[in-house]
Amino acid sequence: MRRKVVAGNWKMNMTPTQAKVLVKSLADEVKGAEAEVIYCVPAIDITTVADAIRSTDVKLGAENMYYEEKGAYTGEVSPEMLVDAGVQYIIIGHSERRQLFNEDDTVVNKKVLKALEHDLTPIICCGETLEQREAGVALPFIEGQIKAALEGVTAEQIKKSLIAYEPIWAIGTGKVATTEQAQEVCAAIRGVLGNIYDKETAEEVHILYGGSVKPDNAKAIFEQPDIDGGLVGGASLTLDFAKIVNYK
Ligand code: 13P
Repeated sequence: MRRKVVAGNWKMNMTPTQAKVLVKSLADEVKGAEAEVIYCVPAIDITTVADAIRSTDVKLGAENMYYEEKGAYTGEVSPEMLVDAGVQYIIIGHSERRQLFNEDDTVVNKKVLKALEHDLTPIICCGETLEQREAGVALPFIEGQIKAALEGVTAEQIKKSLIAYEPIWAIGTGKVATTEQAQEVCAAIRGVLGNIYDKETAEEVHILYGGSVKPDNAKAIFEQPDIDGGLVGGASLTLDFAKIVNYK
């Protein structure tokens, strides 16, 4: 039985001062939650949030890292730095990184392998544009993204990783995929994992849905058989996040 996972992706929001206030106000609400709770935060907030969640069950994630160990990469953050600061999860391949910062499948794959090498759990994102959905090519496109991201990833490693299906047209738009659409794609992703690895391995992988998840739609989405929780953007910045965590 896969445990539900609810991860917040703060994106480029929250100063360290604001982060401290938010985490404090969420603390009691997410305490003892049935779901695994993860805050994925901007690099500048990592130390503050690590301190604020110490001695709670909440886990810490980062939103980005580079795939080299160290060196002359001005502005980048290494996996070793993240681990040392208490980070356990790392979002990789988010559509905003792909679209705005030109991260392609090759970069995504390098980051996934590097994260795993450092025992960071990758939250590997995939998802189609509206044009691709309307053209009927969403599933093959996502299959391509998954296969490319997982090149060289072993069965043992994928079992410890998370995949997030985030249709680009549903991100920050208030337009949520229907539960049927979300389930269809998450089931297809599990099928792809079954083909790359085997069925038993695929059954162990957590697949999240992301895109306008809110307190009023979380339950219906999270109860789909192949959806194991959510990657939450906008609603992770308010007390709504606790309602999503406690969706039942
Ligand atoms: P929203 O929840 O704001 O639509 O963002 C989803 C997302 O991109 C999470 O990574």
